[in-house]
Amino acid sequence: MAFLSDTLARVKPSPTIAVTTKAQQLKAEGKDVIGLGAGEPDFDTPQNIKDAAKRAIDAGKTKYTAVDGIPELKAAICRKFERENGLKYTPAQITVGTGGKQILYNALMATCNPGDEVIIPAPYWVSYPDMVLLAGGTPVTVECGIESDFKLTAEKLEAAITPKTKWFIFNSPSNPTGAGYSAAELKALTDVLMRHPHVWIMSDDMYEHLVFDDFRFATPAEVEPGLYDRTLTCNGVSKAYAMTGWRIGYAGGPVALIKAMGTIQSQSTSNPCSVAQYAAVEALDGPQDFLAENRKTFQRRRDLVVSMLNQAKGIKCPRPEGAFYVYPDISGCIGKTSAGGRAIGNDEDFATALLEETGVAVVFGAAFGVSPNFRVSYATSDAALEEACRRIQTFCAGLR
Ligand SMILES: Cc1ncc(COP(=O)(O)O)c(C=O)c1O
Repeated sequence: MAFLSDTLARVKPSPTIAVTTKAQQLKAEGKDVIGLGAGEPDFDTPQNIKDAAKRAIDAGKTKYTAVDGIPELKAAICRKFERENGLKYTPAQITVGTGGKQILYNALMATCNPGDEVIIPAPYWVSYPDMVLLAGGTPVTVECGIESDFKLTAEKLEAAITPKTKWFIFNSPSNPTGAGYSAAELKALTDVLMRHPHVWIMSDDMYEHLVFDDFRFATPAEVEPGLYDRTLTCNGVSKAYAMTGWRIGYAGGPVALIKAMGTIQSQSTSNPCSVAQYAAVEALDGPQDFLAENRKTFQRRRDLVVSMLNQAKGIKCPRPEGAFYVYPDISGCIGKTSAGGRAIGNDEDFATALLEETGVAVVFGAAFGVSPNFRVSYATSDAALEEACRRIQTFCAGLR
């Protein structure tokens, strides 16, 4: 009898976490490493949010809570959805979990049966396909290349839908590309979905607040109210409020689905951290002006990175609408040999050689389903980004 479960054989550890761990390890060994792998803001959690957490501790809010969230947070989430997305939900339509990740996981665990297909546009966030596999479903990835700015078209979505499709996972702005869908681009997709009433929509709006220039964020149930009854609108405080470690994510959706997700959570983690939930109330209800400041900082870094990467030989880097990632194409580097003598046969070879020869840690594109590319997270200081891009330029110039 095998000790490990068959389930484990279906999934792999997160490659983004692996890169971050390797970079931290090399740093600890004294190597000069610049990590562009981690998907989290380099800002500290705002003081008013930390203060709310301290008050919660002092007030003894340190016990179990309702499994899927305290009423105060559910009410704050309802206000957020109405204020920012024009979506009306009642508290019974809201669930709170341990990070955005658990929300998506609960939804898939609560709904996927063997044979159920889940459409995932690629490049995708690394966890989507593996979570679908863990839940017993079948991921159906649809490649969206640089020619369509890494965005899914109505034609491709239509072609991917079958009678077995249960979910369509939508993520804008996207991890790993930063691509954001305008309301018009999204409407083209929701028009397709309106013709297929058996397909549910899981909208992962985690990067909603990280958008640049005059781009306006839009979410499916807002763009097409006809989809409200089969859309799970997912979000969280991790990225916008620099609260990755607090682990609070949430979603709004139909009551029956929300209840089912609560059942899954009740038999795994139970409630998310009580103190973090009170902090999240302050994040959503408190002052929001620092969001604009953060956007400005990220926009400046995006422009710096896009400009410097486009000056590197063999690299083509689109300028995305949001998040804190870019996803350059490195077709021009494949088939070459690095200055250190490493053959660059694919994007994993590229990322490995880059790390070993220059100390710059990026995540290779194959992890996100579209190659040859790599992902840069520019959630780090301007000085570190400049130095990293200079090293990438030198590395590319040395390819023969
Ligand atoms: C697209 C996307 N969705 C969800 C998450 C999960 O966020 P959390 O840290 O709140 O679990 C991430 C985190 O990297 C993400 O990039």
